[in-house]
Amino acid sequence: MTDLPLFEQGRHLLSVAQFDRPTLARFFGLADAVGPIAQRQAVCTVLDGAMLGSLFFEPSTRTRLSFESAFLRLGGEVTTTTGFTFSSMAKGESIADTARVVSGYSDVLVVRHPDEGSVAQFAAASTVPVVNAGDGAGEHPSQALLDVYTMEKELGARGKTVDGCHIAILGDLKYGRTVHSLIKLLSLYEHLTVTLFSPPSLELPAAVAGYAVERGHRVAEADTVVDAVRGADVVYATRVQRERMTEELAQANARGDLLNRAMLREAGNEEVVIMHPLPRDSRSDSFDLSTDVDALPGLAIFKQTDNGLNVRMAIFLTALGVSTEAVRLTTKQRPWKATLRD
Ligand code: NCD
Repeated sequence: MTDLPLFEQGRHLLSVAQFDRPTLARFFGLADAVGPIAQRQAVCTVLDGAMLGSLFFEPSTRTRLSFESAFLRLGGEVTTTTGFTFSSMAKGESIADTARVVSGYSDVLVVRHPDEGSVAQFAAASTVPVVNAGDGAGEHPSQALLDVYTMEKELGARGKTVDGCHIAILGDLKYGRTVHSLIKLLSLYEHLTVTLFSPPSLELPAAVAGYAVERGHRVAEADTVVDAVRGADVVYATRVQRERMTEELAQANARGDLLNRAMLREAGNEEVVIMHPLPRDSRSDSFDLSTDVDALPGLAIFKQTDNGLNVRMAIFLTALGVSTEAVRLTTKQRPWKATLRD
């Protein structure tokens, strides 16, 4: 068995609520330990013979590819199905039947589905661990884990801690599942100040704000982005989740830059750590993070995506009960050149 007793409830990862502060610290220690494999200084075969079933019934680029890359880089193999059209759900098969069938082929399943609660239904019928890669507007636990992991690194490099920090969270706070999981996971820390800015009709659900407030954090809404980011240590921007809404989109009337360099300058905060779960919506009628912040020193959006590999490797090792000793024994230096910098 693993030396990291996480994911009680049968080793599924469905919600960030499955972590407490000590298990989170141990989990991040494991994410650090697989760093050389994630950064491709070393190759590992610890999951030799294991199969991942990757089931994405909603669009995805980085979540699917980073889960699959993480599994492959640990020496496992991957089978994938994407979209309803190419699966038997298009023929009316239930979640329970699909879960039972595919768990007969795989050792762990990663599932993304448009309905809140659907991945938990999947887990209930599965005979192998299930990882929630996003259930509608519900949760996205692996994203929150990599977000908080990145925050620890970025704030640590500035001599700060997540405890006591001020985070501004901007954008579609109603449908953005990454924000829901992030606020819940951050609530494990001490004395946070969370300032929120969202377009009208896309405010944070009261239950999510209440979750943080009950745990002793200050949560306040700001009238403008500039007010929200003034004095913040981290700003976390999100896109409008157009695919999940109809009339709210018209009410939100959200166009242009959600956050840009001029706003940060006006707030006196051009050094802030800038985060976003991505994708950044670059269409002409979008309301999202401007690319004019990309040259700022605090830009961390691609550090998040890179850290996603470590975190997703740690999820698989935990779900499959692999010890750090087994990882060590199956890891060796790679003989080939990986990046252009090699
Ligand atoms: C997010 C998601 O799918 O919830 N993307 C991701 O996994 N990084 C955010 C989004 O789609 O806006």
